[in-house]
Amino acid sequence: MFKIKKAVVTGGSSGIGKELVNLLLQDGCEVFSLSRTVHPRESFNNQGTLHQIACDITDEKSLNNAFSQIGELTDSFDVLFSNAGFGISGPISDTPKEQVVRMFDVHVFAAMETVRRSIPFLARSKGRIILTSSIAAVVSLPYQSFYSAVKSSLNMLALALNTELKHDGIRAVAIMPGDTATAFTAMREKVTCESIHVSERYHRSIARMERDEQTGASAETVARKILRIVRKRAPKPLYGIGFFYRLVLVLFKILPVRLTNWATGLLYG
Ligand SMILES: NC(=O)c1ccc[n+]([C@@H]2O[C@H](COP(=O)([O-])OP(=O)(O)OC[C@H]3O[C@@H](n4cnc5c(N)ncnc54)[C@H](OP(=O)(O)O)[C@@H]3O)[C@@H](O)[C@H]2O)c1
Repeated sequence: MFKIKKAVVTGGSSGIGKELVNLLLQDGCEVFSLSRTVHPRESFNNQGTLHQIACDITDEKSLNNAFSQIGELTDSFDVLFSNAGFGISGPISDTPKEQVVRMFDVHVFAAMETVRRSIPFLARSKGRIILTSSIAAVVSLPYQSFYSAVKSSLNMLALALNTELKHDGIRAVAIMPGDTATAFTAMREKVTCESIHVSERYHRSIARMERDEQTGASAETVARKILRIVRKRAPKPLYGIGFFYRLVLVLFKILPVRLTNWATGLLYG
């Protein structure tokens, strides 16, 4: 079993990230939690050692500052959980480029920057990079296409990191949770849509996805499953979470793409 003593979690202030932080603390780990919001220490598990670092991961200065704070306290950690994220919804025809750029900035570019800064720490521990991807990386969601695009980028990144960092003994894993009940739903940025015939379909589709999220797994359940994967002796580069979503991944691999895309359209189109 892979042992975690020290970890960095981005997006540790809420949802899946906060549950990861709590479970790690409960195991007596030292955790560096990076997020823009910092909470009172009492709102986390009282075991372990927690360093909350206020950091906007898209801001180079803020990220440098966070990593120099980490560097003052340790020269290695075992796992980077690159988990921070947010959602936007909107038809491709109506979503402003700035919003798409911000989505890529948080989910892909900032994740890459966080990974780059973590490599020296992880090389010393032969550690792991865990990217919180999503089932949306494989199931391309209409009206959340940019979210699907960033998450599939993370899957590709995990595969390449595994090859590039093999000689440093570092493994990378992209984990794809399905619907999870967190603040993510309420925080989603919704693009307004002018054209009435698109707008109706768009709002119906997003309402359904949001219902599924809010009745989905708890953040704690997802975090526990993520930790189970991280602790495996030899984890694969990509994982789905939960029986249903793992089945979806298998079906999307073996069925013709015309069929799987049609089925996605039936549900969310
Ligand atoms: N909920 C779902 O159904 C679901 C399903 C699959 C995958 N995911 C993925 O799981 C991850 C966690 O999401 P969640 O559901 O736990 O949502 P959440 O409760 O809204 O948490 C998002 C976290 O990301 C942090 N964050 C966002 N932008 C940031 C920035 N610029 N710099 C630093 N931190 C930032 C937030 O902290 P601050 O606001 O304090 O900065 C917060 O801690 C995301 O990558 C999401 O895409 C979620």
